[in-house]
Order: sequence, then structure tokens, then C-alpha cells
Amino acid sequence: MASLTSPWLVLLVGMGCTFLAAASGGSRNPTAGFEKVELTDGDFQVQSPSNVPESQRFQYRNGVRTFWVHRNDKPINTATHTNPRSEVKLRGHDYSSGVWQFEGYGYVPSGTSGASVMQIHNQEGAAHSTILMLHVYNGVLRFYSGTVVEPDIYNRWFRLNVVHDVRASTVAVYIDGKHKFGTSVTPSESYYFKFGVYMQHHDQSSCMESRWTNVTLYTKH
Ligand SMILES: *[C@@H]1O[C@H](CO)[C@@H](O)[C@H](O)[C@H]1NC(C)=O
Repeated sequence: MASLTSPWLVLLVGMGCTFLAAASGGSRNPTAGFEKVELTDGDFQVQSPSNVPESQRFQYRNGVRTFWVHRNDKPINTATHTNPRSEVKLRGHDYSSGVWQFEGYGYVPSGTSGASVMQIHNQEGAAHSTILMLHVYNGVLRFYSGTVVEPDIYNRWFRLNVVHDVRASTVAVYIDGKHKFGTSVTPSESYYFKFGVYMQHHDQSSCMESRWTNVTLYTKH
């Protein structure tokens, strides 16, 4: 058994992966012209590995949601063969038109690699399950495992804004208020936002973690 999965270490560490911390803030405003969509705690539907209680892979304290998974964790249920994840799905905020924006302050501790930290998910049954994923590999935030969005993402709070213009079929990513990435995406029928950690297929660390606070949803018609 890997040492990170031993019960005494989980108790000792308390929550999350055993990485260190730091902090900073953001600037500017990609949300200008958007209106806020009301969210309640019930809209944040947690999905976590089926091999352990949710509280061993997700904690919500002082407004901060901490998500972590171990490389050998199980999927969220026995019906799926997907990789381990500890994520929130913003439940009840599926959308199929308009312009939508996810905002959150994220933190990825150094040591986390091979994980998606934020997604725009398609409705179930779509040809591609997502139109946007932000992956972390060795300190670099990427669009899937491709284009670099932010070269140095570890150990700091960053403000993430992801704008999805459904009619134009485009997405744009802002880090700390600055436009960092944009692309056209394949149209689909319905979308929703997810964030947390979802293990990917290469360069995975033994434990993957992200933290999120001040998650806000916006729209524009
Ligand atoms: C989240 O919002 C609170 C209240 O506005 C603020 O004090 C805090 O600094 C914010 N957190 C981050 C990481 O920006």
C-alpha cells in the first residue's frame, strides 16, 4: 500500500494532499456586462471516488472547497470506468444558449500533475463529453494536454474566468483578469461547468489536489 493511502497519514494530514501553501489575488474584470446567477450550496453537487467516504476526498471549510484524489482511487460509481475524480458539478445550471461565464479562485499545490481542474461538460450522450478542460501537468495549466494557458500555476490563488459564447461556439480563458486563451469549440445541445480534480492519462502524480473559493456563475443574453 502506498504511504499516502495509509489511515494514520490521512489523520495526521487532516485534509488534502501533503503539499505546502501561499496566497495572492487578481485584477481587472472579465465579468463586465454579465449578470450574476444565484447559486446555493445545493447547486454544488460533489462527485468523489467510490472507494472512500466523500469526506476523505473533499472538504468545504471557511468558504474553500478542497478536492483531492489518489492515482489508484476508484471511479465515482461502479457503472462507469472513468478515472478517479473529486469534482463539483454545478447542478441545475445546464445551459444551451446565451453567453455563460464561470468564475472561481483556484489553487493548485505543487506536486499535483496529470489532472483536469475545470471543465465545460456536454450533456450526457454527446459525441465529445467536454468542450473545454483545463489540465495541470507539472505546474503548467493547459487547454486539455495542449496549448499553455498559464505556465506557472502552482502554489498561488489565481482568479479563473471561463467564458462560453454558445451562439458563436467560442470559449475564452482569463487568468487574474488577463485573456490567456481562446478557441472555437464544437457546438452541442447543453453544457454545465465542473471543477475540482479529475485524473487524466499521463504525468499523474500519486495525489492530485485543487482548492476553489468564491465560485460565481454569470450569464449574458
Ligand atoms: C473570496 O471572497 C472574500 C469575500 O469577498 C474575500 O475576502 C477573499 O479574499 C476572496 N478569496 C480569494 C482567494 O480571492
